[in-house]
Amino acid sequence: MKWRILTSEENMAKMEVKMSLLDNMIGVGDMVLLEPLNEDSFINNLKKRFDHSEVYTYIGSVVISINPYRSLPIYTPEKVEEYRNRNFYELSPHIFALSDEAYRSLRDQDKDQCILITGESGAGKTEASKLVMSYVAAVCGKGAEVNQVKEQLLQSNPVLEAFGNAKTVRNDNSSRFGKYMDIEFDFKGDPLGGVISNYLLEKSRVVKQPRGERNFHIFYQILSGASEDFLCKLKLERDFSRYNYLGLDSAKVNGVDDAANFRTVRNAMQIVGFMDHETQSVFEVVAAVLKLGNIEFKPESRVNGLDESKIKDKNELKEICELTGIDQSVLERAFSFRTVEAKQEKVSTTLNVAQAYYARDALAKNLYSRLFSWLVTRINESIKAQTKVRKKVMGVLDIYGFEIFENADNSFEQFIINYCNEKLQQIFIELTLKEEQEEYIREGIEWTHIEYFNNAIICDLIENNQTGILAMLDEECLRPGTVTDDTFLEKLNQVCATHQHFESRMSKCSRFLNDTSLPHSCFRIQHYAGKVMYQVEGFVDKNNDLLYRDLSQAMWKANHSLIKALFPEGNPAKINLKRPPTAGSQFKASVATLMKNLQTKNPNYIRCIKPNDKKAAHIFNEALVCHQIRYLGLLENVRVRRAGYAFRQAYEPCLERYKMLCKQTWPHWRGPARAGVEVLFNELEIPEEEFSFGRSKIFIRNPRTLFKLEDQRKQRLEDLATLIEKIYRGWKCRTRFLLMKRSQIVIASWYRRYAQQKKYQKIKSSAIIVQSYIRGWKARKLLRELKHQKRCNEAATIIAAYWHGTQVRREYRKFFRANAGKKIYEFTLQRLMQKYFLEMKNKMPSLSPVDKNWPARPYLFLDSTHKELKRIFHLWRCKKYRDQFTDQQKLIYEEKLEASELFKDKKALYPASVGQPFQGAYLEISKNPKYKKLKDAVDEKIIIAEVVNKINRANGKATSRIFLLTKNNVLLADQKSGNIKSEVPLGDVTKVSMSSQNDGFFAVHLKEGSGAAGKGDFLLSSDHLIEMATKLYRTTLSQTKQKLNIEISDEFLVQFRQDKVCVKFIQGSQKNGNIPTCKRKNNRLLEVAVP
Ligand SMILES: Nc1ncnc2c1ncn2[C@@H]1O[C@H](COP(=O)(O)OP(=O)(O)OP(=O)(O)O)[C@@H](O)[C@H]1O
Ligand SMILES: [Mg+2]
Repeated sequence: MKWRILTSEENMAKMEVKMSLLDNMIGVGDMVLLEPLNEDSFINNLKKRFDHSEVYTYIGSVVISINPYRSLPIYTPEKVEEYRNRNFYELSPHIFALSDEAYRSLRDQDKDQCILITGESGAGKTEASKLVMSYVAAVCGKGAEVNQVKEQLLQSNPVLEAFGNAKTVRNDNSSRFGKYMDIEFDFKGDPLGGVISNYLLEKSRVVKQPRGERNFHIFYQILSGASEDFLCKLKLERDFSRYNYLGLDSAKVNGVDDAANFRTVRNAMQIVGFMDHETQSVFEVVAAVLKLGNIEFKPESRVNGLDESKIKDKNELKEICELTGIDQSVLERAFSFRTVEAKQEKVSTTLNVAQAYYARDALAKNLYSRLFSWLVTRINESIKAQTKVRKKVMGVLDIYGFEIFENADNSFEQFIINYCNEKLQQIFIELTLKEEQEEYIREGIEWTHIEYFNNAIICDLIENNQTGILAMLDEECLRPGTVTDDTFLEKLNQVCATHQHFESRMSKCSRFLNDTSLPHSCFRIQHYAGKVMYQVEGFVDKNNDLLYRDLSQAMWKANHSLIKALFPEGNPAKINLKRPPTAGSQFKASVATLMKNLQTKNPNYIRCIKPNDKKAAHIFNEALVCHQIRYLGLLENVRVRRAGYAFRQAYEPCLERYKMLCKQTWPHWRGPARAGVEVLFNELEIPEEEFSFGRSKIFIRNPRTLFKLEDQRKQRLEDLATLIEKIYRGWKCRTRFLLMKRSQIVIASWYRRYAQQKKYQKIKSSAIIVQSYIRGWKARKLLRELKHQKRCNEAATIIAAYWHGTQVRREYRKFFRANAGKKIYEFTLQRLMQKYFLEMKNKMPSLSPVDKNWPARPYLFLDSTHKELKRIFHLWRCKKYRDQFTDQQKLIYEEKLEASELFKDKKALYPASVGQPFQGAYLEISKNPKYKKLKDAVDEKIIIAEVVNKINRANGKATSRIFLLTKNNVLLADQKSGNIKSEVPLGDVTKVSMSSQNDGFFAVHLKEGSGAAGKGDFLLSSDHLIEMATKLYRTTLSQTKQKLNIEISDEFLVQFRQDKVCVKFIQGSQKNGNIPTCKRKNNRLLEVAVP
């Protein structure tokens, strides 16, 4: 065999695992392939699969679902993804596969679908319908609007379940009504809305429940879940035992939380779109129904002998009337009388106790069942599609399966249910055969007639308009005269006695006269699924479904919009003397509509089976399952399905699956798939009668052939697996070896390189060391030689110099005298001096006496000369400066000099006075006429005329005085008048005192005992203190030849009259600016604060 290496893309394509229903199968996944096919093998196969948690099995495209009674991990979002967009037979059987198939052919092929879910109570129909809905919701379009539609459709379930489901012995959440829901989609497959139809609510449950069962969930939910407030509004009490209509023996159901469910229901109602007042009305009706059961009657005899009844306790009645807005007297009368109207004649008869109870229960049942129908209508209003465009429809039918009770317990309800199932079976057979036939035609395969049981004859027995059981029941109900269940049975016996599927003992010539298992009050029908014995009792009554007109009129009169709407026939204006349609004919009509509806759609079947009666997981009761398989007609299903060919498959997947069985087709078949399959089947020598080639599919007649193929495939796969494993192992080892070899070479080359590198570096560094030693040695040798050469040269030069020196000295000795050296020295010195003075001439500083510059000394030996020269130059330029002065200026400078000697570094005021020229006569007395008198009084030359402050001796306050200094006197005069206040001869001034600080205070001390000293010394202050003191000093010296004592001290004594007062200068604050202040502290102290 030649091997070709596949490209990676081809490899990927080959590796994609093609799953099939046939892979990892437990038992057989599709009953069509069951071999041999009989009841035992069928049940065994189901059991085997059930024991391995495989609860779904196919019969062709029909799904059998066994209730696991436990939650299995097969409904997760991952599972939804797994089944999404996969072919029906690609994965193991699942309800999602069916849902996906239905949804896709609805969306892609535009075929309306219906999903028919049947099975007995507790088999899992309702759960299955919810799984289908949730799958479709998960895979269809998304978006806010679509999600709201989905949510409303899904939330209609809890509402309908609360009102229409109840706990029964068979199922804790048994649907007591049939439900068909059309989900509508747009062309993209997004949900638009839905329509729900309901069938035959089991309303008898409202007034009476069998042992161990409950009334509808909603009653318990209200009582457990409603708040006290709400209960009070509804006039209800929480205690279940208060209500006659609630069977007490199983008020609580294990694992069911009624209170929580109540909240769920209210929430769901809100999501579906119930208004608050609607919800309120609904609960009011429920409360009214519950309370109706508590109305009791007692007999009361009247004079005319007619029986009459009376309500025992009117309290309950009153509350009902308050709740529903009915006039109490109207309702009371409706419970006591019955009015029959015929041809404008009204006849009222009284009701006895039994009739009154009958009327009460009829009212309760009618109220509740009409409320339920109203709820369905209301939900439909909310969920109906908002668009008029053409819609694609998927219908989901969750309806009671065949019901067969033991011991002739089957009544009118079972009869009706079983009739419905007969009809469903009929369309199943019709549609399956039709589909089969269509496929044969499509594929161009010859159609062989299939033998099967057609149940049309049974349907006819029930629904025939003339001779059908329902027609006769209606006839009996409408007939005048006494009508009982027995007369009805008699009639049946007359009409149906000869029918193949009808059995009864009543007629004299009956074939079953001796069949003791058939009681006289019963008849038996041989349904397609088995025989069912019906008890005739109650048929007439239930079919009539009678509600006295008085009651419907009373209801219509209610001041409660919902109740009024529920009883339109109570409106006297619309009085209708015709009898309302019977329950049987109503049901027949609705089943006919349903069938018509279903026939236009592509059917998908889910057959639910209940594995045990105990609602328990893991128990598979074979007898029970067998019973269900029989009446669901599942074997019949398989037979119909494989009447022609048991198995069919498109050519491509068939060739893909079995191509390894033939050399020509393995690994690749190049050519059309059909030719490949032909070659394959020829090679495998499959007998020709076993298969047939259709246009796109191969049809295999017998499952055995398929299993043989499967076995061969399995064997071949094992061989192939070994081969692949062998080649893979070889390839892996070789790849590994090659990889290791390559790695070894790489490692070796790297190592070699590394080793050579190391060696080379070692040699290189050694060479450098040797080289450096040799170079060093050579260099040292050369250096030695060069040094030697240099010393030789130097030595030669020195020798030559000495030699030349000796020769020159010898030559010149005769020209030099003994003092030649000294002369040379002096000469040199002179030259230097000359140079010094010449340089000095150019570097002379300015002639300003205060210029401190002087050139630096050039030679150390000229140090003292240089200093002397500086001093002489300074004195000279001072003299030059002084020589410019006039006499006047000289005098001023003398005064300034005197002042400097007196005050420099002693008085802080001094530096400020240096720059001020001394003017003396600040006041020009001669020019001011005010001072003429003063001028006249002083005839001497005035040296100082200035205004001073005289400090008052008593309080330290200042007064202005004119201070005059003449050659001989000091005068103080009034500043305003010019009057002389005091006159002191200079000889009487002994001392002038002042502080060392920056103030102008000074004291003029007078000689004790002199004429002017009467008042004591003067304490004055002047801005020109320095000038005044200097001039006073100079004038005194020139007049008296004595030096005036000037005392500079911060604390001195002055004589004020008799007291000696201490004047103390302190560093004061800057409070008054820069002006010193003077204050007399006490007798002994006068304080001057200098800022
Ligand atoms: N697929 C499932 N997985 C787990 N539990 C299930 C499943 N199907 C049904 N059940 C269980 O079985 C119970 C009965 O199922 P369901 O109510 O669907 O029965 P039904 O066929 O609708 O009965 P009825 O005719 O009385 O309404 C459910 O309450 C649930 O506990
Ligand atoms: Mg149900």
